[in-house]
Amino acid sequence: MTKINPMWQQYPELVPNLTAVLALMKKHIHTDDRAVTEAILDMINSGGKLLRPAYCLLFSQFKPVDDKKMVALAASIETLHTATLIHDDVVDRALTRRNIATIQARFGQDVAVYAGDYLFVICFQLLANHTSDLRSIRQNAQGMEKILNGELSQKRMRYNYEMTIDDYLKQIQGKTAQLFGLACFVGAYESGNSLSFSRQCQKIGLNIGMAFQIMDDLLDYSQSTATLGKPVLEDVRQGVYSAPLLLALDQHQGEFIPYLEKRANMTAADIDVVTKLVTQYSGLEKAHALAASYTDKALKGLNKLPDIPAKASLLRLTKQLLQRQF
Ligand code: IPE
Ligand code: IPE
Ligand code: MG
Ligand code: MG
Repeated sequence: MTKINPMWQQYPELVPNLTAVLALMKKHIHTDDRAVTEAILDMINSGGKLLRPAYCLLFSQFKPVDDKKMVALAASIETLHTATLIHDDVVDRALTRRNIATIQARFGQDVAVYAGDYLFVICFQLLANHTSDLRSIRQNAQGMEKILNGELSQKRMRYNYEMTIDDYLKQIQGKTAQLFGLACFVGAYESGNSLSFSRQCQKIGLNIGMAFQIMDDLLDYSQSTATLGKPVLEDVRQGVYSAPLLLALDQHQGEFIPYLEKRANMTAADIDVVTKLVTQYSGLEKAHALAASYTDKALKGLNKLPDIPAKASLLRLTKQLLQRQF
């Protein structure tokens, strides 16, 4: 049996269902290709944080809940997340994720592309087999389209240091926040809540996802590869400018430009200078404050929901994500 990430020991009520999510995902993986199968199973076993399925399961508890169905829908969300990570590592040419070699590093880009494709299929299979509500399926397809558009906007703006913080916020709303919103919507809606209540939950999820990505981008500047289990400071060399840099750059462009203009030729020493400038011009503090403003919106939304035990967990988890170090 796959062990889930130890962070969930603080939420024992979620452990059985999150364990079941991983088991169900693995049960669906059977391609004829050994490398693709092995690559996917290793990825599922590699200890992802399972945040999206956890939110999906927590938001399902505002109605009496059919655990089996909600586990399957949470698994469908985590499968979609896993597919996007595998393809993301191809696009970002990343060599490690979750402290192990990425699929493309181990098996090659072709296996990574097929593994991601296969998981998109499994995501829809899980969804279609456990809901007959077209709205959820449509919502899922729309979510996928928005994720893709977020990624494409990031691609178009590569190396553009004129991009604004608003451009960045639109990008992360697409590439990351949508999936958190979808997880919360599906959890609420599929357990029998009204459409308007479920939209309210989706909005909370969007704010959680915004804070999550800003924190992720902040950790990229402040943590080591060993702690995060994935490459750090590669974004800036690859021309992906995120909150800490954009917020420090404001009014100090002149100091950054000579380094940023080296693009992919930036050396380790150049990256070091840029990181120091980001720190010196309060990029990290400003990014943290920006993340905190989204967490605040999420908490305000959560506080308006009915008082059930899951609400306390939702509040605690959402606050914790703003303090996270990995
Ligand atoms: C990584 O998400 C991708 C981002 C949106 C930053 P997670 O940090 O949730 O990835 P895992 O599943 O825990 O590895
Ligand atoms: C996260 O991409 C969003 C998607 C996978 C669509 P990033 O490239 O920002 O995330 P990490 O840092 O590789 O996890
Ligand atoms: Mg990446
Ligand atoms: Mg990326």
